[in-house]
Amino acid sequence: MPSLTHCRDDFPILKRSVHDGVPLAFLDNAASTQRPLSVINAISECYEKYYANVHRGIHTLSEESTERYERSRKTVASFIGAKHDHEVVYTAGATAAINTVARSWGGQNLKPTDTVLLTIAEHHANIVPWQQLAAEIGFKIEYLPLQDDFQLETNAVREALESYQPKLFAFTAASNVLGTSFPVAEWTALAHQQGSTVLVDAAQAAPHQSINVQAWNADFLVFSGHKVCGPTGIGVLHGKEQLLEQMPPFLGGGGMISRVTTEGFETAALPDKFEAGTPPISEAIGLEAAVKYLTEIGLKNIEEHEKTLARHAEHGLRQIDGVSVIGPQSGEKTGIVSFVLSHAHAHDVAHSLSDRGIAARAGHHCTMPLHHALGLTATTRASFYLYNTLEEAEHLVHSVAEIQQKFTPTGRRRRRRKQ
Ligand SMILES: Cc1ncc(COP(=O)(O)O)c(C=O)c1O
Repeated sequence: MPSLTHCRDDFPILKRSVHDGVPLAFLDNAASTQRPLSVINAISECYEKYYANVHRGIHTLSEESTERYERSRKTVASFIGAKHDHEVVYTAGATAAINTVARSWGGQNLKPTDTVLLTIAEHHANIVPWQQLAAEIGFKIEYLPLQDDFQLETNAVREALESYQPKLFAFTAASNVLGTSFPVAEWTALAHQQGSTVLVDAAQAAPHQSINVQAWNADFLVFSGHKVCGPTGIGVLHGKEQLLEQMPPFLGGGGMISRVTTEGFETAALPDKFEAGTPPISEAIGLEAAVKYLTEIGLKNIEEHEKTLARHAEHGLRQIDGVSVIGPQSGEKTGIVSFVLSHAHAHDVAHSLSDRGIAARAGHHCTMPLHHALGLTATTRASFYLYNTLEEAEHLVHSVAEIQQKFTPTGRRRRRRKQ
């Protein structure tokens, strides 16, 4: 396993303790990651040395800010292998990016007789915008179900594409609950064979694997800055030039026009057309520092490191009586492990883990339809990233074993007798 132990020192927050001296094990990375010093410094430097609004001023600070903002776009375009820098649109996050596609492309292209195909494993961010639009336009939404082993076979995807002939197939590249990665290029090619447009939600893929949008060939791809060690309030919408050119702007206002009269407006060229208002300037500068940091460490190293930790944790958790891991045993997986305990609610588990310094997440993780399909209301999720250690994975397993013991009927009786 490539040792990424040295990375830990780059993240000041990881040095803190919780509950008066308990070391922090931050295993909530699927929700949001932490930032290395290089990102924190890039943002501070922006505010300390050259911050001003971009694209507008003819003065030094505005020119410097604009240059850095556009440099960030170039770096991010290269991070995802985009053909053109202007195919990268900055949004407020993955959710905002999907909403942009729904409102702009969807509003223009989806008709009442159409179908949008999703998987049941989607985050609400890739469900609700389509439901909102369907309520207005009247198209159908179909969901690809999971098999009993939590997998989603390519054959099932092919059959669904053939039978529904969806206008759009929108799917997550990696599940934020099951820890599975899906074969994006293969599914995209199948969808294109049926004439479907493809949106890939890469919110849980971009932080952990090298992405090449040209190799994947999806029409749209989205991800969030805060999940790749970057700032909150910024996300990426990558769209193919030809599609973005044809789409109407989503938000109107300053920055997205080339001309306005009292009668109407003409839109600016890409990518400005989709960046109405003052954009996330310091956030873009922070995002550039973040993707540079990840690139220096190497996405392949990050992927292998967190997979090793997650598999170690998963193996340990599967050995504990009464603990069920919610996700496939094999196949392409990420650094996420979700689980349930036979006698403790996910929230109690997360509380007890927090007492031991472990930050894990409990609940439906914005995937209520997935949890419903699995017959669950909540799971506990541990999600690993480059700065986590094998000791933290082991600490998780030992802690869960203790918690499971504590909540079983015999454990409860023993605790009551002690009190
Ligand atoms: C798979 C997936 N898609 C979309 C999102 C939404 O991201 P954001 O809240 O940053 O917009 C998340 C966030 O957890 C996610 O895990």
